Amino acid sequence: AQRIAIMGAMDEEIELLKGQLENKEEIEKNGIIFYTGKLKNKEVVLLKAGIGKVNAAYSTAILTTHFKLNALIFTGVAGGLHPDILPGDIVIADSLVQYDFGQLQNDEFITWPTRNLIKNTKNPVFLSVDSTLLHTSKIVSNTIQLKAFKNRVPKFYIGTIATGDTFVSDAMKAKALYSNFNALATEMEGAAVAQICTMLNLPYIVIRSCSDNANTDAHTDYFKFVEIAAVNSAQMVLALLENT
Ligand code: ADE
Repeated sequence: AQRIAIMGAMDEEIELLKGQLENKEEIEKNGIIFYTGKLKNKEVVLLKAGIGKVNAAYSTAILTTHFKLNALIFTGVAGGLHPDILPGDIVIADSLVQYDFGQLQNDEFITWPTRNLIKNTKNPVFLSVDSTLLHTSKIVSNTIQLKAFKNRVPKFYIGTIATGDTFVSDAMKAKALYSNFNALATEMEGAAVAQICTMLNLPYIVIRSCSDNANTDAHTDYFKFVEIAAVNSAQMVLALLENT
């Protein structure tokens, strides 16, 4: 039977979904624990990938080796880059980019295309998410009611997410990612998963909620808001599953 994979990087990001899994079963493969069961009447497999691009890529490889999937949804927290984004806001990726894959020359960093291994396919810098999952996510974002946080209902953004192996807590770097890639948020796994899904022809989407603004306050904000952000992202995933 085919399943929808749901991946997060950390325990907080899969906790709510794990708690709601019906007929939950646990199975370990190559050091990754997979939780199978039903969410919103859909057969799913849930896993924690670990932090960063290598862990994300490894987990996606092990996942796709052991499970027949028809889609992958990544859920978790991110650092907001768009100046209006506040903690708790949701960013739905329509494309992802690895901002740290490329060439450094004369103080200038040039991003390289992802160089996927499949011949005769495009090697884009920006990897597009599945159009059906994106379409459904847009519809869901207009109907879902997330809990107000500090008297403000979370806002939804759709656009690029920039991925790299760095926790960004630097306003200059955040600004550069926003202006160089027009990225709304930054995190450490999305584009790695996106590249593998692209190579395997597996439909995917990345949904994130912001725990911080990737600036000097990012570390303190992260610890204050990681839980609320992780829950918001998971709620969005549940609504997406319900409508998929
Ligand atoms: N995940 C949450 N906040 C982040 C940040 N500021 N940088 C990278 N990944 C993050």
